[in-house]
Parts: sequence; C-alpha cells; structure tokens
Amino acid sequence: MKDLKPGLKKITEIEDLRRVAERKVPRMFYDYVDSGSWTETTYRSNETDFDRIKLRQRVLVDMDNRSLATQMIGESVNMPVAIAPTGFTGMMWADGEIHAARAAEKFGVPFSLSTMSICSIEDIATHTSKPFWFQLYVMRDQDYMANLIQRAKDANCSALILTADLQVMGQRHKDIKNGLSAPPKPTLTNIINLMTKPQWCMNMLGTKRRSFGNIVGHAKGVEDLSSLSSWTEEQFDPRLSWDDVARIKDMWGGKLIIKGIMEPEDAIMAARSGADALVVSNHGGRQLDGALSSISALSDIVQAVHAENSDIEVWLDSGIRSGQDVLKAISLGAKGTMIGRAFLYGLGAYGEDGVRRALEIIYKECDISMAFCGHTDINKVTDDILVKGTYENLKVGRF
Ligand code: GLV
Repeated sequence: MKDLKPGLKKITEIEDLRRVAERKVPRMFYDYVDSGSWTETTYRSNETDFDRIKLRQRVLVDMDNRSLATQMIGESVNMPVAIAPTGFTGMMWADGEIHAARAAEKFGVPFSLSTMSICSIEDIATHTSKPFWFQLYVMRDQDYMANLIQRAKDANCSALILTADLQVMGQRHKDIKNGLSAPPKPTLTNIINLMTKPQWCMNMLGTKRRSFGNIVGHAKGVEDLSSLSSWTEEQFDPRLSWDDVARIKDMWGGKLIIKGIMEPEDAIMAARSGADALVVSNHGGRQLDGALSSISALSDIVQAVHAENSDIEVWLDSGIRSGQDVLKAISLGAKGTMIGRAFLYGLGAYGEDGVRRALEIIYKECDISMAFCGHTDINKVTDDILVKGTYENLKVGRF
C-alpha cells in the first residue's frame, strides 16, 4: 500500500474501480465491458452464484507463511489468476493492452491479448519482456488466420487461446443502441459524452493506436475502420468444429487453451483434442443468456475430465470480482482463473496503476480468505473449505 498513488489508497475493492471507470470512460466503451447479452440473467448469476457459496471458517491453525504461488500450463504464477483476452481494451484507456500487460508482468501473472485488441501483437511484444498469450478468433480468411498465428509465434507468445463460444455473437442491447465503434462515431450524443471525459480524450489524442491493431492493414479488404465492421460480420466462422481445433493445434504447435466450455461432453472433447487447458466460461454472460453461471458448471466438468484420466487443466472465468471468488473456484477443482471486467475496471479508472490495484485487491482477498479457512498453500485447498450444500444447491434444477 505504501507506494500507492494518493487516489488509489481509497480503492479497496473491485467495485470502487468499477465506479471510477464508469465515470471516466466514454459511455459506449464502458457499456461494452459492463453488459451481458439479452436480459443479462447469466451475466448477473455469474456473480450472484459465487456469493451463494459459503466458506467454513477454521481457527487456531498456524496461518503463517502463506503462498498463492502455483503454475498454469507449466508457467509459474504468483496467484492462479490470468488476465483474460478482451476486445476494445485500448479504448478503456489509451494503449490499454500495453498498460495491462505491463501490470500483469510486474505482478507475475499471465496476460492474454485478444484478436480484437487495439494494440497489436507486435506492440505488446515490444513493450513487455516476458511471453504473453494470444487469443485467436477463427476467421474464414485462411491466409489471414495463418498469418495471425505466425505473428503470435514470431512474438514468442507462450500459448494460444482458442475461443470456442463466439461463432455467432450474443446480442448486447447497449452496444447496438450506442452504435459501438472504435473510435466513436462523431454523433451529437457521442460528442456530448466525450466532452465529459477530458482525461480519456487527452490520452487518446496522444496515441496512434485507435483501431484494431491485429486486423487493420493485415486483413484483405480492411484498410480502415469503415470496412472493419462488415469484415468481422463476414469473417467470424460459424462452421468452426473440433476438426478445426486439431488443424489449428497443428498450425500453432505450442500450448493450446480452449475457452468457452460449459458442458461435460464438450470438456471431454477438449481433453481428447490434446489441449493443455480448457476454460469453463460463458464469455462473461455475453453470449448465451440463460446458460448456467460458470461457477455452477465447474465441478461436473472437473469430474468429467477426471473420469477421462486427462491431464488437461480446468480453469474458470466469468463472474470473478474478488479473491474469494478465485478461492472458491480453486476449491472446486479449477487450476486457474481468468479475470476480464475486474481488470478492465482498474484499467478504465487508472491505467496501469488501476490494473495493478485490481490484482493486489484480488491477491489480498484470496490470501486472507484462504487463511480464515485454515490453509496456507493454495495448491492444497480443496472443497473441504466450503459449507456443504451451498455449492450443490446452485445446481438444483439442472437435471
Ligand atoms: C468479444 O469477445 C466480446 O465479448 O465482445
């Protein structure tokens, strides 16, 4: 806490960061982050289901010398939390992906870059010193895809994340109403809104990175932003199948993470595909509204993978807003977690310092809660820290 900037001293939970980001970031980009699809039922239950799981407090055990350090796909991490790949991140804060990647590197957790990022793969490679992960959307343009994979290899990325749940896009009402675009279209509403965000505007004027750095100038027919939206609509490949996973795995030749698994059958397919990790995720409630919360889907998937005798790692994202959420996911068998909104709120609020603060908050909450539950090593935490029935109840009505 000692070296925190004055404004950050009063930031003690992720919700504080969310409130500041909401004030500082233009409406269309804040809404892009902070919304789910359709009624947002799944988006909400991702968070509320975590709250319904209760922890068992233990006392008078030696709580000294605690550690959250572990490994995710063989990489050492200071806590089992990675920065998830998120689109438009460089619109939350100028050069946002660079700031988030730096914060992650300093904190000792992995950073993932989205295909739909503002800063490019090369930008991140230039501004960081450790390998990062690259997330791939599978596109119809095979040359572009092959080139993107090659660029990730050239940048020394240490894992490829294949997003499996965005062949078609869940409708997010706010994005349509806001006319989401990077940079914002100069409509009267946008201009009025931007006038209330002077720091964001100043920062944006100071960078050249204001469009999709992995796409514009690299994909055929996308030389500028006006051609980009029609290109994405045409390009996200709805035919993506497990055969493509095998093909991409061969093209990539390195560690592979499949993100967006919600059912045991699909988890078994992921395990059989030879991927190194799968992420139990409903895309932060942004895709199939009405799907289970990701935490309630976790233990069946862990069991299915176990029954397969597979050593694929099971991770979880969607809904993590605190270190207690991380602890609960780990106790239910996740080997790692990913955070999206939790770091984006920090980024939108204070840039790199805000991402660092988000990571510190989550670390501290996870560490102290683990101690209250009578553990000192995150690798030894099991579901014995949970009050019986409080997790099982989430799934009532599933079968
Ligand atoms: C893209 O991944 C999105 O959820 O908008």
